Amino acid sequence: MTDKTTGCPAHDPGKAYDPSKEGAQMDFKARMSYGDYLGIDAILSAQHPLSTAHDEMLFIIQHQTSELWMKLALYELSAARQAIAGDHTAEASKMLARVARIFEQLNSAWDVLRTMTPSEYTAFRDDLGQSSGFQSWQYRLIEYAVGNRNKAMLRPHEHRPDLMERLTAELARPSLYDEALRRLARLGLPVPPEVLTRDVSEPWTVNEGVTEAWAQVYRDPSAHWEAYELAEKLVDFEDYFRRWRFNHVTTVERVIGFKRGTGGTAGISYLRRMLEVELFPELWRVRTIL
Ligand code: HEM
Repeated sequence: MTDKTTGCPAHDPGKAYDPSKEGAQMDFKARMSYGDYLGIDAILSAQHPLSTAHDEMLFIIQHQTSELWMKLALYELSAARQAIAGDHTAEASKMLARVARIFEQLNSAWDVLRTMTPSEYTAFRDDLGQSSGFQSWQYRLIEYAVGNRNKAMLRPHEHRPDLMERLTAELARPSLYDEALRRLARLGLPVPPEVLTRDVSEPWTVNEGVTEAWAQVYRDPSAHWEAYELAEKLVDFEDYFRRWRFNHVTTVERVIGFKRGTGGTAGISYLRRMLEVELFPELWRVRTIL
């Protein structure tokens, strides 16, 4: 029977409800199920706490979910870079907007981790050994893909030739920022030639001429709408990425104070130094000269 006002099947809340009577599929002996499609068994059997501490499960799942979101961020960033190289900037802007939202999501996730107190973390910290997010190859790949190319960060991956290959292959490609500046040049903006022919594997150095090219865009957005939109999407992404770094360092200080990191750095002072890293420096400097 159907409810006349909503058009939905009428039901008696007092009776046991059986969704199969309305067509819900219940037999997956010969069909692909939700779990089959998503590889849920593999994901849910990848949590192996090394201690009996209650909070270790939170710590593991927080890192694993972050790595899944990083996987999607990398996927979108690579596609965005390719789209810019092919002059499909509008598509790239859409993907970059998604990456910014991914980082917003990762930023909200810190609230869950912050429910873990220093005493609770101390109960299992020794079990982590020397492992640390510092060795996250996906995080490093994101940095390399967007333009923060510090080759010193390759070393923790030397024991894994497959990862070294991925990271060094990334360094050989123009970064997202390199591709954005090449597009700017194709749009007729005065990007200095040395920027377009630079060794892309080297770290980016601030270039006055690039700041001036962006200034032309920002002084007359309607004349340079494509470049203007791309610039704002890049700034948006960096904004959320910076917030991730800031939330990380604040959470770390809250949980371990000024102890050394499990990865061997001085901890807070290392992470504070990383807060100074700029991905697209000219896009921040241009604001001052407008
Ligand atoms: C209580 C929680 C956490 C603590 C105490 C902590 C602590 C640290 C410390 C001290 C470092 C510096 C490297 C070292 O010497 O170990 C570091 C780096 C890092 N951590 Fe965490 N972390 C926590 C949670 C997370 C989470 C949830 C993620 C998500 C994936 C993460 C990702 C990273 C990354 C990517 C780095 C490298 C940053 C860079 O090199 O710029 N951390 N962490």
